[in-house]
Amino acid sequence: MPRTYYEKALLKAAEYRRKEAPLILGIESSCDETAASVVRAGRGVLSASVHTQIPIHRLYGGVVPEIASRSHTERIGGVVNDALEKAGVSLSDIDAIAVTYRPGLIGALLVGVSFAKGLCYAADKPLIGVDHITGHIAANYITYPDLTPPFMCIVASGGHSHIVRVDSYTDFTLIGRTRDDAAGEAFDKVARAMGLPYPGGPELEALAAGGDPEAYRLHTAFNEGEGFDFSFSGIKTAVVNILHNAEQKGEPVNRADLAASFQRAVTDALTIKSVRAAREAGLSTLALAGGVSANKCLRERLQRECDKYGIRFCRPDMKYCTDNAAMIACQGHYEIMAREPNELSLDPDAASFLQMM
Ligand code: KG4
Ligand code: ZN
Repeated sequence: MPRTYYEKALLKAAEYRRKEAPLILGIESSCDETAASVVRAGRGVLSASVHTQIPIHRLYGGVVPEIASRSHTERIGGVVNDALEKAGVSLSDIDAIAVTYRPGLIGALLVGVSFAKGLCYAADKPLIGVDHITGHIAANYITYPDLTPPFMCIVASGGHSHIVRVDSYTDFTLIGRTRDDAAGEAFDKVARAMGLPYPGGPELEALAAGGDPEAYRLHTAFNEGEGFDFSFSGIKTAVVNILHNAEQKGEPVNRADLAASFQRAVTDALTIKSVRAAREAGLSTLALAGGVSANKCLRERLQRECDKYGIRFCRPDMKYCTDNAAMIACQGHYEIMAREPNELSLDPDAASFLQMM
């Protein structure tokens, strides 16, 4: 007879692997979205509940970590109940619980991880800690039921811009990364300099829709170079300088043109390097992941470039681009198929394993 929580968790994990349609509950609280989701057999999303804190943080022009943690604490119970209810299941039907434990705001992560641990301990469920970045990649599995590794992936979010070779569901090789700002961070900073509200990415995209992307040439030699690393802070600074110079001279700036030119420079860099990475690795599929994957200009540019070389291009459905828990549940499923569950001593970690590579 198993006695300890972990002995029971090991047995439940083995049961999970034997079941035809196991149910996993995903929990996400790494930044400014409190999310929960129930997923069947890894890819069937039964529910995906999200409480976004964007209207709260917008007042401050960016995410305020302490406010984020408090809001997660207030909301997490309700969001998890909502996900169970919408899926038409109760906690006793759930076979495992996956939670984002890195990277992110440490206080925000702590809320989700503590909540998941409490549920696991109280209800004898196996606990699976998921790296948020691998979750973003897994969002593609939900959209494309036939997608399997290996493939190349370009991850562009508020904190990361990485080209990752997905060798298996749980093995990843870092091919390239940003040397400074992440793509989403650059979008947010440029949007802020233009007086747009947080989060800047979608706002800047809307402004750019009416602009001429050829009006300003913001490309950098680094992003046009041989390697697979990116640099976005130079492009961001160039935009800020154009705005400041015009202001000092009292000259008007065509903000739509500037936004479109910035968007073009960032999407060109992400597209050209990631497609080249896929080709050089001999991979026939390139996937896009992370919050910036919601950008239509980037989705279209990548599709065109992939078509040119006969590469299959995958990108998540819009609702799974930005932070959500379905992607965490999906990656959690593949983790539990490949390894034993985590102990309850699992601690949140501000850094991703990709940052350590
Ligand atoms: O993945 P995500 O929701 O959170 C992190 O893990 O960071 O990504 C958020 C980032 C923000 O920087 C946001 O401005 C950017 O994704 N983003 C966009 C768009 N939608 C979200 N950037 C450009 N165009 C968009 N449509
Ligand atoms: Zn994210």
